[in-house]
Order: sequence, then C-alpha cells, then structure tokens
Amino acid sequence: MAADPIPAEAIAVIDRISKSPPGYRRGHARGLGVRGTFRASSEAKTLTTAEHFQGGAIPCVARFSNASANPCAPDRLSPKEGRTQGLAVKFALPSGKAATWAAINIPVFPARTPAEFMALTEAQAPKAGGKPSMAKLLWHVIRHLHILVSVKHIKALKPARTYGMETFFGIHTYYLIDAAGNRKAFRYRWAPRLSGSALSPEEAAAQPEQYLMNELRARLGQGPLSWDLIAQFAEPGDSLDDPSVLWPVGRRETILGSLSLDRVHEDQEAIEGMVFDPTGVVAGLGLSEDPILKFRSRVYSESYSRRTSETRTAPAPADMGQ
Ligand code: HEM
Repeated sequence: MAADPIPAEAIAVIDRISKSPPGYRRGHARGLGVRGTFRASSEAKTLTTAEHFQGGAIPCVARFSNASANPCAPDRLSPKEGRTQGLAVKFALPSGKAATWAAINIPVFPARTPAEFMALTEAQAPKAGGKPSMAKLLWHVIRHLHILVSVKHIKALKPARTYGMETFFGIHTYYLIDAAGNRKAFRYRWAPRLSGSALSPEEAAAQPEQYLMNELRARLGQGPLSWDLIAQFAEPGDSLDDPSVLWPVGRRETILGSLSLDRVHEDQEAIEGMVFDPTGVVAGLGLSEDPILKFRSRVYSESYSRRTSETRTAPAPADMGQ
C-alpha cells in the first residue's frame, strides 16, 4: 500500500482546487459557533466511562459549517441540489479536559485512504476553462467503484431548510469502553428532533446563496434546537476501518444522549481559533484504525497552523458574524 501523503500535500491540493483564501479553514471555511448542553442517556454510562457520558449537564460549543474551503461558497449547488454541511462539537468536561468530534450530513466518505482522497481531489482539479475534466473524474470513479455509495448520498442532498433539521454522521468507527474494559465498536450520528422537508426548488431559488447561518440565528432566537446522539453498533464482519462502507440497516442502535443548542456564541473570533479534531476522545472512548480518521487529525492541525499564521485578504462573509 502507498505511504500516507503528508498533511501539507493535502492542504496544497485543497488550496489548488478550492482557491481557498488565506486565513480560513482549509475545509468548512464558513461557519457559525453556538452554545448549548449535552446530557447523556442512562444507558450511556453502562457502556462507557467517558466523562461526558455519565449523566450530568455538559456545556458544549458547536460549529455549523458549509463544507467548502471557500468561505463565500453558496449553501446549495442549485435550487434542486443541496451541499455538504458540518456540525462539530466540543464538550467541556468536568475534569477541565475537552472532547471534540466533527460530523457531516452524509453517512459515508468517498475515499478509503488518504491517498485515495488525494487522487479524488486531484481528479476534480479545474482545467484551463475553470471546470473539472469529466473524463478524469470518470476514470477515477471507474477505478474506485465503492465511491458510488457516497456519490449517491451527495447527489440526494436537497437544499436544507435549516441546520436544525439536518442529520450529521460521524462516519468513522469509534469504541465505547466500559468500567470492565469491554470495547464496543460503534458509529454515531446526530439525529435532529425537529422534522420537516427540505426547501422546494422554488423556495430554494428565493433564498440568497448564503442563508443557513442567518436562518440558524433567527431560529435560535425562538428557542433551542436539539439532536439525539445515536450509536449504531457493529456486528462481526462489519468494516471497522473503511469510512466508504455503510453498515447494513438493522444494526442495533441506542441513544447515547441529547444535545440542546440554545444560543449563538458571543465570540465568533474565538470559534475561528478552535480546532474540532475528530480524534479528540478521552478515556472511555477509543479510536478505530480508520486511516482517514487518523489523517484528519494531522491535516486539521496543519490547516490550523496555516490559517492562524496568515493574514486574511478576503473579509469574512457577514453571516459568520465577525
Ligand atoms: C481525508 C479526509 C479529510 C480531509 C483531508 C479533511 C480536511 C479538512 C480540513 C483541512 C478542515 C479544516 C480544519 C481546521 O482548520 O480546523 C476540515 C474541517 C472539517 N471537516 Fe474535514 N476532512 C476530511 C474528512 C472529513 C470527514 C470524513 C468528515 C465527517 C465525518 C469531516 C468533517 C469536517 C467538519 C465538520 C469540519 C469543520 C470543523 C470545524 O467546524 O472546525 N471531514 N476538514
């Protein structure tokens, strides 16, 4: 197997494809920070010793984001097509430590390894006319047919009505570790308590290109938004290290807790200075050997050091609140 690309190479490819402006995250560049509380379910503490799953109120900071590395990217691709969005959460633990996670609104990832991610991103590089080469993309898909599962989910995204109705998936496998040291492999998702349809093409066409952050501000002004944290448990034979594979429907699931977000964070600049590392787990939780999961941690750290040492030449969009 090819050696993992180094994080700087990944950032260089992202910069070339997305034309990311200096001073912003190299993924999910536009975001809005909010505050709220996580409360674990009574079952959670029987499955893990992790501090945030013992039942008390855990203060959280969350960041909703548009997945593009360009902070001015529209929130929908067209009136009929949505776009990948993110929800990152930082749990402030009783011990003073923090745990972090970052999830997106599709359940699978289009690459199995960092090298595959690089190849896919390269295949989307714009040609001289500014558009990617369809032949190059098709050639990549033909050689990586497993990508079709995530393509189907990305294509099925409709313009979101509100972040409050989106489901966000952690995608990678993690472990819950109990007091006796038993390890249970699981994947998580944030399932919204608010239900409703996506925007119709007419409703989406009537929205400005960037609307989800302002919609979130307005909605939080009317009351909290909540998500259940659902764990899906692996069965023997399920892939534990391949984020491009879905586990079969019908796997046992349980609610680990709920997240209630009730206000826009008072300091959006502080949010810009944070990293939501998906490997930010504490005792009682474990990481799988998923190579994308481990790579993300290194790439986010590289993105952080770049963006915090650069001067922004493009101002933040107004709805980022800075
Ligand atoms: C090889 C795979 C991936 C690469 C190279 C990558 C790259 C990045 C980068 C560079 C950032 C900005 C980090 C920062 O500056 O703080 C980012 C943010 C983010 N990524 Fe990824 N990513 C990958 C996979 C994923 C996956 C699988 C998910 C979801 C499960 C995901 C969800 C997110 C979210 C939600 C954020 C925003 C976090 C925040 O609000 O600060 N990424 N990604």
